[in-house]
Amino acid sequence: MRITITESLNAFYSVVAWRIAEVIVEKPDAVIGLATGRTTTGVHQALAGIYAAHPFDTSRVTVFGMDEITHVSRAFPGSCYDMLLRQVVRPLGIRPENFLMPPTESDDYSRECRAFEDAIAARGGVDLQILGIGENGHLGFNQPGTPFESTTWISRMDETLDARIRRESGAAPDADLGGFTIGIRNIMMSRRVILAANGSNKTAIVRKALYGPVTPDVPASVLQLHPFAEAILDPEAASLK
Ligand code: GLP
Repeated sequence: MRITITESLNAFYSVVAWRIAEVIVEKPDAVIGLATGRTTTGVHQALAGIYAAHPFDTSRVTVFGMDEITHVSRAFPGSCYDMLLRQVVRPLGIRPENFLMPPTESDDYSRECRAFEDAIAARGGVDLQILGIGENGHLGFNQPGTPFESTTWISRMDETLDARIRRESGAAPDADLGGFTIGIRNIMMSRRVILAANGSNKTAIVRKALYGPVTPDVPASVLQLHPFAEAILDPEAASLK
């Protein structure tokens, strides 16, 4: 795996953002998988800044969110849909029909999982998948223990995330929150993947994921097997090297 360590947090956001911009410029009809969270919020801000300063053609690019919270309204400001809409789709002028998102609400989630995969496949598969990493090594909502063969599915929230989402979303106390997520296999089928990690809370897990055994106990460790994977780290996330 290629490892890029940036000089500062700002440089980290900027380097990841430029990777995304470059893919769109090189392949205007690229399909790009995005992740949400604190890490990518900074990346998306940098990307919007690049686009504002150096506009490029976004009329044919497809972006999709790799995961989404289920059983909440799409309108709540913490849904992945809402974050990507505000952070990427609107600032870059991406066409609504080229923004693919799993639904937050459905009466048949397994059908939605298949439909989401089919929609991405119909556009030619994924050129670039951007990934954050959870402190326990999760990718998307694929928690430790998720089989490497997994395809798009609904995962259970871990307790911390469940509590955070309930707090932020005003979800009903009895709502059965889940995580709609592309699977590990889908991630590995992307032509290129970038794992973006910053901050001292990620240092230990980054070290495990990049240098430890490849095991479903650390979902991100699977990226060691990807032929075109790059980890981009800020100085803090890289500090235990
Ligand atoms: C969340 C999301 C992931 C994200 C990860 C890291 O659970 N489902 O897609 O990559 O956690 O989030 P953060 O960047 O906020 O640390």
